[in-house]
Amino acid sequence: MCGIICYVGQKDAKPILIEGLKRLEYRGYDSAGLAVQDGNEISCYRELGKIASLEGLVNGQPMEGTSGIAHTRWATHGEPSVQNAHPQRDQAENVFVIHNGIIENYHLLKKRLEKEGVAFQSETDTEVLAHLISSHFDGDLADAVRKTMGQVEGTFGLGVIHRHAPDQVVVARRGSPLIIGVSDDGHFVASDVSAMVRYTNKVVHLQENELATVTADDFFISTAQAQRIERSTETVEWSAEDVELNGFPHYMLKEIYEQPHTIKNALRGRLEPGEGVPKLGGIMPVWEDLKNCRHMVLVACGTSFYAASVAKYIFEKLTEIDTEVGLASEFRYRKLNFPPNTFMVAISQSGETADTLAAMKEAKRKGARLLGVVNVVGSSISRETDGGIYNHAGPEIGVASTKNFVSQLTTLTLLALLLGRHQNLSLTEGVRAIRALEALPEQVREVLGQASHIEAIAEKYYHCTNWLFLGRKYNYPIALEGALKLKEVSYIHAEGYAAGEMKHGPIALINPEMPTVAVIPKDEMHEKMLSNIHEIKSRKGPVIAIATQGDEKVRDLADDVIEIPHVLDFLTPMLAVIPCQLLAYYCAKFLERDIDKPRNLAKSVTVE
Ligand code: M6R
Repeated sequence: MCGIICYVGQKDAKPILIEGLKRLEYRGYDSAGLAVQDGNEISCYRELGKIASLEGLVNGQPMEGTSGIAHTRWATHGEPSVQNAHPQRDQAENVFVIHNGIIENYHLLKKRLEKEGVAFQSETDTEVLAHLISSHFDGDLADAVRKTMGQVEGTFGLGVIHRHAPDQVVVARRGSPLIIGVSDDGHFVASDVSAMVRYTNKVVHLQENELATVTADDFFISTAQAQRIERSTETVEWSAEDVELNGFPHYMLKEIYEQPHTIKNALRGRLEPGEGVPKLGGIMPVWEDLKNCRHMVLVACGTSFYAASVAKYIFEKLTEIDTEVGLASEFRYRKLNFPPNTFMVAISQSGETADTLAAMKEAKRKGARLLGVVNVVGSSISRETDGGIYNHAGPEIGVASTKNFVSQLTTLTLLALLLGRHQNLSLTEGVRAIRALEALPEQVREVLGQASHIEAIAEKYYHCTNWLFLGRKYNYPIALEGALKLKEVSYIHAEGYAAGEMKHGPIALINPEMPTVAVIPKDEMHEKMLSNIHEIKSRKGPVIAIATQGDEKVRDLADDVIEIPHVLDFLTPMLAVIPCQLLAYYCAKFLERDIDKPRNLAKSVTVE
């Protein structure tokens, strides 16, 4: 969704802002713009489409100045157009504003401003902010922004400059993240660390209803009531290299290949093999209640929801906890009745997904305790929780989530194992699970070794316009995730199904033009999955099987086989998902799709 990068410092602002915008491209956008300030002069350019077009536009222009604001817009109010792109400005062109989020009462405010004679130039909700800030300005920009905050309802991350308040950017946050970056050459503000990680890894998180006046040498944080806040910097573990392609053609492929490392990072320092018990420091604040918990709700969206869905089976296997899984976007429509000592676990890569945050707030209201399984440190979801586990997967730039999924599965398995060991799970089972987790990175590497075989399978079938993915139990969510991955990056229609449902409808679709990806590891579901494959073959449907190494029965039956190493049943999803990711990637490659930035999608979905 929309992205923000601001800079105030000693260096030329234009190239820094353009570079920041490029780093925000992965979030999804339809237009972009920037404004650079030089004393009382502000030059502003906006363009529809790619950052490269904006860069082309500004390259020939004199844009002097060492401070400025820049934005990628994902249209919500008003079509994608130059007029609706940010920065938005007031009539006198004194105030320039960039905004993430939605001003819910903009309609009323706009009507009132129009009555007062203001002529609007755009269809955006953001433009009201520019006019309001302008009307409140009497020399103190932070004060004008604070007064405006008092008038608006909704969500915002804001960056504001004013012609008569040079050498400063005022930023403010309500419901939309903003992070201040501190470097020797000045200060940054971004909606996302990746926009500035090339320049600094020292950050300060702005919190709800706070604003900050940022200058080249300092920053001053205050509340909406003008109370000064002191906050020290944190160091983020992401590096500039993490956000580079490092020789890969796409971030999605790079991130798929990072997965052995991702699992290692999620396990690092958390295993106690001798005791068969993991160590998870982040949940210790709630440990006394958590260890006695008997009811747990896992909520998430998209790929994170499928990780939660696998985890539900793992919790049922390893613990005595009654575990429920819910789509965050549906959660608030339910009549919730949590038994005492219920924990909700919110699972999110970005930590900013609006639906997930809304589900958490609703659960908290009804008395549930909150845990998070989150990748982005300091994100909104992580701040809402009573405790949690960070994934340490590093930045995920490809819009299609890949490495984060295996990371979520790893951390959720650790949580289940820890709770199980304090319930009925034996030492032997605990030790066996930890040994199996330790072996996973090498096994993932083995699966990745088949990439060219998987590419050849994708080449054989990418022309097919409908695909089916089937699995059972732990691998039913993998069928759903496989179908989602294929849909989002290749735009091929795909359905994921619990294989047992075939006879209840989807089998009617089977024909020689519709490939089925059957996830059939050698586990307790094996025989039943074999029957499903027989049924599909009898109807002349091509079958691509993801099967355990050396499974002769599957080899005899399926048209194509991708093998995964033998592993404990509940860990098979971590291996089975890799071929699904690669199939989706290569189909998208053959179809020449925009793999890292699929149409209509955003990396971080910050609106409900
Ligand atoms: O950041 P989150 O994990 O909360 O995001 C949830 C979904 O928006 C995300 O997984 C989405 O479905 C991806 N496009 C999947 O590849």
